[in-house]
Amino acid sequence: MKATAIAPSNIAFIKYWGKKDEKLRLPENGSISMNLSGLSTTCTVEFNRDGEKDEIDHERIKLHIDRVRKLAGMKDHARVDTRSNFPHSTGLSASASVFAALTLAATKAAGLDLSEKELSILARQGSGSACRSIPDGFAEWLDGNTSDTSYAVSIYPPQYWDLVDIVAVVTHTKKRVSTSEGMKGLKKSPFHKTRLSGMQEKIVSVKDALARRDFELLGIISEAEALEMHAVMITQQPALLYWTPGTLELMKAVHVWRSEGLPCFFTINTGQNIHILTLPEYVKKLEKNIQETGLAEKIIVNHPAKGAQILS
Ligand code: PMV
Repeated sequence: MKATAIAPSNIAFIKYWGKKDEKLRLPENGSISMNLSGLSTTCTVEFNRDGEKDEIDHERIKLHIDRVRKLAGMKDHARVDTRSNFPHSTGLSASASVFAALTLAATKAAGLDLSEKELSILARQGSGSACRSIPDGFAEWLDGNTSDTSYAVSIYPPQYWDLVDIVAVVTHTKKRVSTSEGMKGLKKSPFHKTRLSGMQEKIVSVKDALARRDFELLGIISEAEALEMHAVMITQQPALLYWTPGTLELMKAVHVWRSEGLPCFFTINTGQNIHILTLPEYVKKLEKNIQETGLAEKIIVNHPAKGAQILS
C-alpha cells in the first residue's frame, strides 16, 4: 500500500488563467504546455489501515488524498512525503508537479489502476496545471465543459522537438498571493474578456508552430500570451504584481539579445522567476548572458520531458 511517483513541472505556451467552475477547476480556455526535465517532484504515499492519523503537511494535499480515498472506497490513514528539486511559490508551477506526482503515487498506493485520462482528470482537481504534467512531452489541456472532458493529452512526445526552456531564478522569495487566490479577482479586469476572445486563434497558431517546429512563431505567441495574462493580472482587483525589478530587467535583456540575433523569447507565470525559450545551439551563449547580468540566483536548463512516472 505504498507507491512513489515522479512528475515534472510544465511551462504553458498558452496559459490557464480563469475558471468556469471553481470547485472542479474547469478552465475558461484550453492550454498548451511542455513538461520540464529539470523541475520535478517525487512523491511517496503510504496508506496504513492501522495508522492513527494522516501524516500530511498541507490541507490541499489532504483534500486530494480524500478524493483518492473516495474513489478507492477506503478509509485508511495516509502518510505523504513530497520533495521538489526547485523552489516552490516562485512562479515555477510547483503545484503542477506536486499534484501530478501525488495523483499517480496515491492512486497506485490505493490499489487503483487509472488510465492516463482518468489520472489527468483527477490531477486537475488538485491543481489545474497538474493535469498537463500527467501525459508525456507537449500537452494540450482540452477545453471541456464537464469534468470528464477537461483533461490533458500528449500532442507530441518529448523527443519530437528539443525545445529548451532556461529558467532564471531571480530570487527564491515566496510570492505573497497564491495562484488559486490570485485567480479569484480576474473578472474585474477589463482585459479578461479581450484575452479570451483571441484564444481560439492563438491555440490554432501554437499547434501550427509545433507541427512545423517553427520556433519564431511559437516564441512570438508565447511571449505575447504571457504579457496578455499579466496585463489581466495587473488590472485585476486587487491587482497582482508578480514581477520584481530583476524580472523586468531580464525581460528587457531578452529583447536586446533577440535584436542582436539570439533566438530567445520569455514567458512568465505567477511569480518573479522567468522562463526563456530557445533552441539547443544557443543555450551556452544564453546561460553566459544571463550569468553576466548578475540577476539570476540560479539557472535551470530544461528540455522536453516525460509525464508522471511510477518509481516504485
Ligand atoms: O494550476 P495552477 O493553479 O498552478 O495555475 C497555473 C496558472 C499559470 O501557471 C499562471 C498558467 C498555466 O497555465 O500554467
